[in-house]
Amino acid sequence: MLSPSILTANFGVLQQEIEMLNESCADMIHLDVMDGTFVPNISFGLPVVKAVARIARKPLDVHLMMIHPEKYIEDFRDAGAAFLTVHLEACSHLASVTEQIKSLGMKAGAALNPHTPVAMLEDIIGELDLLLVMSVNPGFGGQRFIPFTIEKIRRARELARRTRSETLIEVDGGISLDNAAEVYAAGADILVAGSAIFSSDNPADYMKKLKTV
Ligand code: DX5
Ligand code: ZN
Repeated sequence: MLSPSILTANFGVLQQEIEMLNESCADMIHLDVMDGTFVPNISFGLPVVKAVARIARKPLDVHLMMIHPEKYIEDFRDAGAAFLTVHLEACSHLASVTEQIKSLGMKAGAALNPHTPVAMLEDIIGELDLLLVMSVNPGFGGQRFIPFTIEKIRRARELARRTRSETLIEVDGGISLDNAAEVYAAGADILVAGSAIFSSDNPADYMKKLKTV
């Protein structure tokens, strides 16, 4: 599956960009919320998620790169999130946060920074709808894919298999046609891609290619 990230879309014509994604082969739409504390960058927050939700005809896959995500779970549900992913590194009580996300009717995801071992999720994997493996250090679009994360994707897939969990494995950062096949082969179910799609001459066509590598 493919979850295009709008981080590098043209926000001046956001409606057009979302309409383009509606018509495309994208399975969901990835929204990167950054707080300037958990990550060095600030992106956008609830009003933009709400605006996208009004136009989007695909599920919103919201990736929270922020401290204290537990304070805003209901707000993001009301804004239209279908998947809500929080970072393990930002949660002292991850199991209670994911429980809260699910109890509000959303799919719950946990994200791992490149340096955080997959084994940290060993005891909770069965509770997760989604495990997001970051393949760059979060904060910015357009970074280079970190090669050692391929092994982490394999480990995440292996953990899901061993525990018979139906958790989807999502991979985010530096994905393009150059590495998509390898990332799928390592065990990813969902690829997130931003700059590769939005900087291409024909984003819809590029997405089709990404899905069929
Ligand atoms: C990075 C974000 C990503 C980013 C991906 O912090 O979580 O979702 O938008 O962008 P690319 O595909 O350009 O690496
Ligand atoms: Zn993301």
